[in-house]
Amino acid sequence: MPTPARLPATTRIAYGGDYNPEQWPRHVWEEDYAAFGLASVDTVTLGVFAWSYLQPDEDTYDFTRLDAIVERAVAGGRQIVLATATGALPPWLAHRHPEVNRTDFEGRRHVYGQRHNACPSSPVFRRLSAALADRIAERYAGTPGLVAWHVGNEYGGACYCENCAAGFRDWLRERYGTIERLNDAWNATFWSHLFSDWEQVVVPNALSEHWRGPDHTAFQGITLDYLRFMSEAMRQNFRDEKAAIRRHDAETPVTTNFMGAPFRGIDYHRWADDLDFASWDNYPPGPREHARMALVHDQMRGLKGGAPFWLMEQTPSITASRDVNPVKRPGVLRLWSWQAVAHGADAVLYFQMRQSKGACEKYHGAVLDHAGRTDTRAFREVAALGGELEALGDAVLGARTPARVALVFDWDSWWAAEITDGLNRHVKYPAVVLAYYRALWDAGAQVDVVPCTASFDAYDVVVAPLLHMVKGDTASRLHDVVARGGSVLGTFWSGRVDEDDNAFLTDVPGPLAGLFGLRVEETDSAAPGVTNPVTLKGDGGELVSDASLVFELVVPEGADVVGTYGADFYAGTPAVTRMRHGAGDVPGGRAEEAPGGRAGEAWYVATGLDDAGVRWVVRRVLDRHGLVGPYADAADVELAVRERDGERTSFVLHHGLEPVDVAAHASGVDLLTGRRVTQGETLHLEPTDVVVLRED
Ligand code: GAL
Repeated sequence: MPTPARLPATTRIAYGGDYNPEQWPRHVWEEDYAAFGLASVDTVTLGVFAWSYLQPDEDTYDFTRLDAIVERAVAGGRQIVLATATGALPPWLAHRHPEVNRTDFEGRRHVYGQRHNACPSSPVFRRLSAALADRIAERYAGTPGLVAWHVGNEYGGACYCENCAAGFRDWLRERYGTIERLNDAWNATFWSHLFSDWEQVVVPNALSEHWRGPDHTAFQGITLDYLRFMSEAMRQNFRDEKAAIRRHDAETPVTTNFMGAPFRGIDYHRWADDLDFASWDNYPPGPREHARMALVHDQMRGLKGGAPFWLMEQTPSITASRDVNPVKRPGVLRLWSWQAVAHGADAVLYFQMRQSKGACEKYHGAVLDHAGRTDTRAFREVAALGGELEALGDAVLGARTPARVALVFDWDSWWAAEITDGLNRHVKYPAVVLAYYRALWDAGAQVDVVPCTASFDAYDVVVAPLLHMVKGDTASRLHDVVARGGSVLGTFWSGRVDEDDNAFLTDVPGPLAGLFGLRVEETDSAAPGVTNPVTLKGDGGELVSDASLVFELVVPEGADVVGTYGADFYAGTPAVTRMRHGAGDVPGGRAEEAPGGRAGEAWYVATGLDDAGVRWVVRRVLDRHGLVGPYADAADVELAVRERDGERTSFVLHHGLEPVDVAAHASGVDLLTGRRVTQGETLHLEPTDVVVLRED
């Protein structure tokens, strides 16, 4: 279990966002605050990139500007999220101490520029970032309305400098203790890599183990450990600053804004204990990413054991960093904001409150444009949503999601699978996870996205796509799920390696073989576009799914065959299987349904089924437990539920492009309109419609 969440003390869904008024004259601030009033904005995030004006040189701090900004927010009665201002280095620091600049994958030490640019292992950066956080916390702790501290900004990237190499060696010494253990973990007899001294270890990059970029490495174990180390080094930066804050403020919750999509560089699960609450920035790669956004929301909620998270940033209209930056269509901002709340967000915040005057984000969308107009479409939509959130009050604040399905997400499996040779480079871990999540989402299941270390006790169904690495007691805990009558769903490439990324010296899928009741003898791969028709047969019908990319050749050892390949030399052999377990069954054995116990099932999908195939399998698994939702057959209609103190609020969100009529799943009052809804009545949903039903 992660450490319990500590959430900002707010009385409604916090609303507002990043505000950087240092870019414009004082009289404009007054316009800003007048507009905030019109839009029911109660929260501003201040100082994210303020380092260069807070500390003009190593020995001088100057809080004049930030004092004025904070004072204005306090005078306006706004809640403040105050940053530690370390998201970008000031020029003097990079020049005076070049070690704070990152060295890239090719080994080039960078000079001053951009942001998110600090070497996480630099002693100078660690000292000065913590000192800045300390000064800020000392000065502003206790400020009226200060509801949260915001450390850094969107941690990510990597550095390959000498300080990182030294830090990596220390981290390895700590992890392995002896050089023999290190050699063993990295299987270093391969290609004459036996290390006889820690100092011989260098960073894995283009100058050492890699060719063709960060994913092609001669030693997966080294590269995997470097990914782990980098995530930990940045976590240490976060901890340094949080410790500085805690010297002056024992209470106010501390967070950092994560990225989503999901994001590969940082193992958010390993960070979770250090956060008081989770938060993230939602910039989906396209306009039709509702399942992907839901996945990351559920993942953020999973970081603190199901506690609410904050949506720290989203754009009111366009982003600026893409080649093409389309505007959000009317209603979409509202729909996506309510989706965040529906999945557990207790804040809806924007980047940015007023448009930057210059540099690369001057055209990025904002609540207020350069002219400060309040009669734009974007502002009107922001203001209307602010009014709705204000009217909702504390109705769902702190409420949790009653999920009976867990989706296991594992950074180690992601990293290990994507840096390995010998499989198929076109398979991407998040795409496989998203395919299964999307099928769950389509079916209307409430899902917790959890690490493999989470307790599975509360779940009827555990979906663990591409669980490449099996660590600790994960296999036996998955087995416990089926032993008590639950269902587990896994896929190809699971159970391949141990925590050191070494293959299990047993049949594939290693410690999961008994669970799934099979062994994998060969793994065939094909280029994108090559398909093999898989016929799926079971209760309620037959489906032919075009499978692609991966085709494992499965020998059942107890499992029933549910789907078979239709082509190639393995035509007619199993592609999808189901192992039935009796209660109390032991791994490896096939048991009949135990007296008094319900049979559990472990499904295995040995190939890259198309979306229809994944949906077919997922529906069957959910169906067994009555977990297919009421709107499962209405395309793009989402149902998400939050509960608190026995009160249940359900959100019906229409992401489709055409109107649809559905039968209401429950009776209650729509908190947005005050209208009574009776179970079974026809709900007419226009595209982007939202119903927030307080159920009777
Ligand atoms: C975020 C970042 C913000 C801003 C925004 C623009 O990733 O935290 O500072 O750059 O993107 O979309």
